[in-house]
This record gives sequence, C-alpha cells and structure tokens, in this order.
Amino acid sequence: MFMPIREKERKIKIFFDERIVLLSKDESELLKRIHDYDEITFRHSVNVATIVCRELNKYQYISEHEKSEWVKAALLHDIGKLSTREDILKGGDLANDAIKHKEMMMHSLRSAEIYSGKNVSRHVKIAALTHHIHYDYLNDWENAWMSKNKSGKPNPWEPEKYQIEKTLNKEIGTLSDKEIRITALISFADQVEAMRAGYRNYKDAFDWGKIKRILDDENSHHNTLCITDKKSLYDQDFKNFVDVVTEKENTFYKNVIDQINNGSLSEFTPKKCNSKSEIEIDDYEELAL
Ligand SMILES: [Fe+2]
Ligand SMILES: [Fe+2]
Repeated sequence: MFMPIREKERKIKIFFDERIVLLSKDESELLKRIHDYDEITFRHSVNVATIVCRELNKYQYISEHEKSEWVKAALLHDIGKLSTREDILKGGDLANDAIKHKEMMMHSLRSAEIYSGKNVSRHVKIAALTHHIHYDYLNDWENAWMSKNKSGKPNPWEPEKYQIEKTLNKEIGTLSDKEIRITALISFADQVEAMRAGYRNYKDAFDWGKIKRILDDENSHHNTLCITDKKSLYDQDFKNFVDVVTEKENTFYKNVIDQINNGSLSEFTPKKCNSKSEIEIDDYEELAL
C-alpha cells in the first residue's frame, strides 16, 4: 500500500533490546546539543535510558510505542542542564555550596524554557520536569519541589514555590497513574546510575548499601519511587545490570556513540503514515525493523 511521507523524523537504535526511538527534529537537536555540551551528562542520559529500557520491557500494561516514548524521555530527562552554567555543571562537589547546589537543581525546571516553541513529546516534558520530585508529591505541584525537608533548615525553594507550581501545571497538568509510575522509575534509574557511576572521575562510586540508604530515606527528595517498585528494583539482577551499564566502557553506550558518529542525529528518516490517522502502531513497528 502506498504510504505518503507525512514528515521527517530521525531514529536512533537504543540499547538493551535494540529498541528504536524516533526523535522529532527538535528532540534530535536537543540530544545532539547535550552530546556536544557535556560528555558526562550525555553518557549519564544514555545509561539512564538503557536501564529504563530494560525495566520497561517487563511491563505488560503499556504498548511498544509507549515504551519507546518513555525511553526517549529518559534519554532527554536532563535537557535542562543545557541551561546550567558550565562551571557549576562541571565543577565537582556541590554538597557544601547551597547556592551552587540550587543552581544545579534548577536544571529540571529550566527544561520548560528549552521546550518553548519546540516539538517535544509529553513524555519528554514529564520526565524532565519531574525527575527530582519526591514520589509523594507528583501531582501535588504546590508542594512538589524539595518538599521533604526535615532538617530544620528553611526550604531553599520556598520563594520559587508559586512559579514552580505554575510551570508544572502549565507544562504537564495532572499526571495519570501510569505516568506517575513510569516517571518514578525514570527518577529511580537516574539516581541509581549517577551514584553507581560516581561521576566525574569514577572514583566516587557509592556501594549498593549506601545507595539503598539514600534512596530509602523517606524524608529525602531522593526518595522518588513507591516502595512496591523499589523492592523489585533492588534485586541482584538489577544491580548486576546497573554495574555493567555504569562501567566506563560499556557496549550499550558505545553502540549509541557509534550511531551518533555515523551521523544518526543529522540524517533524516522518512516517517510513514496513512491519510486517515496519525502513525499507527503497526507502521511504527514496521519502521522499527
Ligand atoms: Fe536531573
Ligand atoms: Fe539525570
């Protein structure tokens, strides 16, 4: 059957099960910008997407198309770092500098500025804007940002609360239960990957005991995943997989870098659709071959 070309997209073959992720022109350019701006952020993004891809394969309740959209969201979750000052992004330990730490954490909200006027999917927006929000506060935008704070110190985000709420409401509104569960998975993979890889010099990788203590602290903003999902994610298979992915020379990352070096992000792939509807799942799967 004749299939007209509706628009052009770029595709990139991702990771664990050779899943194909289709990128709009804008998404493709954002990914390329991350790659060019900071190699570590790019490596981290690919690794998080690899972990998310593996976990999503186990989920029965979402389609293959949706799984690929969420893997793309994981790949682009840190696009806000394109607006983070280079000296802060690459400046090492921020733990003892509250101002720099806050500046760094702003990357999530700054995603909204980067999306402005661009063709970026809802999945990408959700992951980028919510991946540092405590699980209990997804959809409670008024109190969402760094709300779990029992240290006795004033919440550094208090002055921005209104703006944050407005941004989250405007960009993504209310999340469905499914969206909450998957964005929580992305947040979890994000933090596990970063702690296990020990950026920026691979010397400071945390052991699994320490990672678990941090992620299980219910008062910490690191606690981003409901307990049911977390239990299955701490099994030995998961840990082994993360250990492989966070090795400096891992084959999943090498595979993506090879594609980028071969021009995958700058070459267009025609996207097919029929005249009646948006692209169908069958068309998508055909494309993915
Ligand atoms: Fe982030
Ligand atoms: Fe991240």
